[in-house]
Amino acid sequence: MRQVYLDHSATSAVDPRVVEAMMPFFDMRYGNASSLHTMGQEASRALQDARTTVAQILNCHPEEIVFTSGGTESNNAALKGAAFARLRKGEKGHIITSTIEHDCVLNTCQWLESLGFSVTYVPVDTYGLVSQESLEDAITKDTFLVSIMHANNEIGTIQDIRELVQIAHDHDVLFHTDAVQSVTKVPVDVHDIGVDMLSISSHKIHGPKGAGCLYVKKGTTIDPLMHGGGHEKGFRSGTENIPGVVGLAKALAVGEEERPREMPRIERLRDELIEGASAIENSWLNGHPKKRLPINAHFCFRFIEGESLVLRLSGKGVYASTGSACSSKSLKPSHVLLAIGLPPEDAHSSLRLTLGRDNTEDDIQYTLKVLPEVVTDLRKISPFKASFQE
Ligand SMILES: Cc1ncc(COP(=O)(O)O)c(C=O)c1O
Repeated sequence: MRQVYLDHSATSAVDPRVVEAMMPFFDMRYGNASSLHTMGQEASRALQDARTTVAQILNCHPEEIVFTSGGTESNNAALKGAAFARLRKGEKGHIITSTIEHDCVLNTCQWLESLGFSVTYVPVDTYGLVSQESLEDAITKDTFLVSIMHANNEIGTIQDIRELVQIAHDHDVLFHTDAVQSVTKVPVDVHDIGVDMLSISSHKIHGPKGAGCLYVKKGTTIDPLMHGGGHEKGFRSGTENIPGVVGLAKALAVGEEERPREMPRIERLRDELIEGASAIENSWLNGHPKKRLPINAHFCFRFIEGESLVLRLSGKGVYASTGSACSSKSLKPSHVLLAIGLPPEDAHSSLRLTLGRDNTEDDIQYTLKVLPEVVTDLRKISPFKASFQE
């Protein structure tokens, strides 16, 4: 059976060039970067080279990059790190985030609330955009941090991040952004965006799982989550994952190098998907029509359950998801879809198709052949069919 992987926002295949770059660090050059001998120095050099590569791509200094285990850790490190730095001085304060953040930001904020921090969850419009006015209105004299994602993992909407950062900085407030979904898909230049902290995950960009990084602008005070041998300048102790770090740097380098050719190609395929799927009766695209990730198409197909759709498509070899991979096993409707104003029954009928390097025109044609058939079949057995006139 033909297989079409359209779940690249959940995770992506490790690129063969990335595998090749990582391989020697498993069994040949496996030294500990803290060891003084030649193999240790070799590992230390690989670590520094990777740091330089990542910094060049993000347009920052190598010392501003902290390697982590991925997006979840980077986001936790940014938010808790900024909060703990205040606790250490006997202060608490106010954090602003949005209602459509990834669970690892929302749950971190809720946990910080249980410690006595206050959090405002700013709303978004029907496209998933945070308005400059709502951010401005939410800032108080106690606000010390804003965390708003660059691009949303479910509906693909890209925020006007530069403008939002400017508002926070006008009030001397730190700004963190989760760029897990945007990096290598759209330009991410920390200097240009102006953020103080930015999170990246390797497995979303054809790199290995369990690797990521946090950009922390020089002069930003955050406390570490991990205490130990003082690795990563004391910010993240623990023997460095050299194969992972090398893989992350290579994945970023390949992604950035190919972005100018690859993203317009993928965007064209994505637009074909949008056109074809939107032609199905009682369906629509979610997220912003223009300010969206080139890889993302997210729909509602009214009267059917997104989970059933995903399983039926999987039976035909098309791999998609309803929304975020992390919450796909929960029966709750997506908080992102509720936040953009969809009623729960429509929020349950969602399908996310996210494209990547390996997708071809044939994949899209096959998906557009299978999708309407599956939607029609499911609607025939839909418990909501009484209200549905074919
Ligand atoms: C926007 C966003 N942030 C954070 C994460 C978590 O990243 P990781 O899987 O590397 O922990 C994800 C993963 O789905 C994501 O989409």
